[in-house]
Amino acid sequence: MDSSFRMGALLMMRARKRSRNFIPVISAVALLLAVALPLEAGRAEGADQPETVCIQCHGSLPDQLGAPVKLWRNSIHADNGISCNSCHGGDPKNAAVAMNPSHGFIGAPGEDEVPAFCGRCHPGVLKDYLASAHGRALGKGGPNCVTCHSNHEVMKASLNLINEKSCSRCHSFERARVIRAAMQQTESHIVGISGRIAGFRAMGVDTERLDKGLFAVRNSFHSLFHEVHVERVRAESTKINAELGKLDRDLKVIEDAHARRKVAGAIAVSFMLLMALLFHLLRKTCK
Ligand code: HEC
Ligand code: HEC
Ligand code: HEC
Ligand code: HEC
Ligand code: HEC
Repeated sequence: MDSSFRMGALLMMRARKRSRNFIPVISAVALLLAVALPLEAGRAEGADQPETVCIQCHGSLPDQLGAPVKLWRNSIHADNGISCNSCHGGDPKNAAVAMNPSHGFIGAPGEDEVPAFCGRCHPGVLKDYLASAHGRALGKGGPNCVTCHSNHEVMKASLNLINEKSCSRCHSFERARVIRAAMQQTESHIVGISGRIAGFRAMGVDTERLDKGLFAVRNSFHSLFHEVHVERVRAESTKINAELGKLDRDLKVIEDAHARRKVAGAIAVSFMLLMALLFHLLRKTCK
């Protein structure tokens, strides 16, 4: 169920990308079938974000019913093709039955239902969250996913989410500060290595193996937070830093090779200049 949902989301993203590449083809076919399918032709030429009936109707509603549209447009979900109906269900093409449960509409989740609602697509995070002190306090004063990430304006996650304003709503910031400090150093290490790899990639070096290595490390690191367990963070960070150390050494080898190549290149150029000069002088003296 979880993975099929994610697959569905990914397929949707691919289909969106593909439909963009094939817009000329689609338009041509649509032109041929213009009599039979006038509506489809209009849609195929549609914009980047398909304007579902959910967006059209809610966009024109006031207050709480309209606000989600504006907020959602800025979100990482909108960027990745996760639309109203991906989360709330329903029929995005037919206004008459859009919010009918028989068309899969599940409405807005209650506070206790939020983790399962988001966790359909983020099963790893859900598991860590449910096992944590926060998950155990769900419905008893603990935070759920939207407490920290918001519901509609969800942004790319980072350690900046751990801040005084957000975390001291329920307990002292001290706990949050300790866990953030435990993660900060590893985070900086990851950012640094990521920048160096990007530099080589821009120079045309094959970085596939390094990319894969960093991807795995980064994933295990960013899933750590939801356990909100300082000792676990420290123990895992030690392992993660060892992995990063390996990537560091691999990068050093490439950097050294490049430095040597530069020196060799400089020597070769100087040698050629010298030869050209000698040749020139020889010709002069021979004349
Ligand atoms: C023709 C207008 C219209 C369309 C189309 C429409 N909505 Fe709504 N929606 C409303 C109105 C009005 C309400 C508030 C009254 C109600 O709950 O029925 C609402 C309420 C909601 C709620 C809150 C329900 C709750 O339990 O509090 C959600 C979530 C929602 N819509 C999502 C969607 C999604 C997703 C779609 C598309 C699949 C959609 N809407 C299509 C008008 C619309
Ligand atoms: C990432 C999942 C997600 C997406 C995408 C999403 N919503 Fe929601 N929505 C939620 C959650 C979770 C709630 C429950 C509110 C809460 O607990 O804060 C909610 C609540 C609502 C409500 C009830 C009023 C409110 O704000 O609490 C409406 C109406 C609504 N959404 C409409 C929409 C519309 C329209 C879209 C598309 C523009 C949309 N949602 C996209 C997750 C989502
Ligand atoms: C107490 C606040 C808090 C709660 C509750 C919370 N998160 Fe997070 N979440 C964070 C922080 C902080 C990060 C960034 C961690 C990092 O950068 O290493 C994050 C990161 C993420 C990421 C990115 C992880 C990655 O692999 O890059 C996702 C997805 C996510 N959260 C989803 C959820 C979902 C779904 C829930 C509910 C089941 C949830 N979060 C509950 C604070 C929270
Ligand atoms: C229908 C599937 C789906 C649902 C439901 C869903 N998400 Fe997402 N979410 C995605 C996809 C796809 C992405 C973008 C790709 C990625 O980063 O995994 C994403 C990205 C994120 C990110 C950014 C991850 C990063 O790399 O920094 C956060 C945070 C997040 N979601 C939180 C939530 C929260 C909170 C909810 C519930 C309100 C939720 N998601 C519900 C599919 C979903
Ligand atoms: C909505 C309230 C709420 C918010 C917001 C909140 N917490 Fe918590 N937190 C709790 C509750 C409840 C507990 C468990 C009971 C306790 O230990 O007080 C807890 C426990 C913790 C613990 C101790 C975990 C353990 O296993 O002992 C840490 C660490 C923590 N929170 C960090 C954070 C961070 C970091 C943030 C901000 C990103 C945050 N909290 C935001 C309610 C909250």
